[in-house]
Amino acid sequence: MKNFINFLLFGAYLFGSMGLAQSLQEEVDIPFRYAKGMFLFEKNCSSCHGLDMTGTDKGPPLLHDFYKPSHHDDASFYRAGLQGVKAHHWQFGDMPAVEGMTARKMKSIVPYVRYYQQLQKLY
Ligand code: HEC
Repeated sequence: MKNFINFLLFGAYLFGSMGLAQSLQEEVDIPFRYAKGMFLFEKNCSSCHGLDMTGTDKGPPLLHDFYKPSHHDDASFYRAGLQGVKAHHWQFGDMPAVEGMTARKMKSIVPYVRYYQQLQKLY
């Protein structure tokens, strides 16, 4: 049942995503293999890090030198999503563990974040 609901959500997402991806930035075209990661990022991370990863009043930009793989490797992303992080670089306060997050979901989210960082020429 849960899988079925996920399937429906995913379908709805794919349907809506073409317009969304276009509205995000001029010409942003996210390859299909990152669609699930994008969906999960939007659902779980964008409220603080921003849809376009430039940050919000609740969290820092992930398009920032700090968050290049050379500074924050993939393991630190898994840790952040699964366990949260104590504020240390910014003044936004601690990042709480993301509710309902699993290693499996992070496995989709992290490659999407890395793809997006490269797309935006962060590294
Ligand atoms: C409730 C707001 C909030 C949400 C939701 C959130 N974050 Fe964060 N995140 C923060 C804040 C605030 C920091 C900055 C902590 C600091 O001062 O270094 C942060 C830091 C991070 C870091 C840096 C970790 C480190 O070791 O310094 C990563 C990576 C990250 N977030 C990824 C994610 C991902 C991926 C998601 C979704 C699964 C997510 N965040 C959801 C608020 C949030």
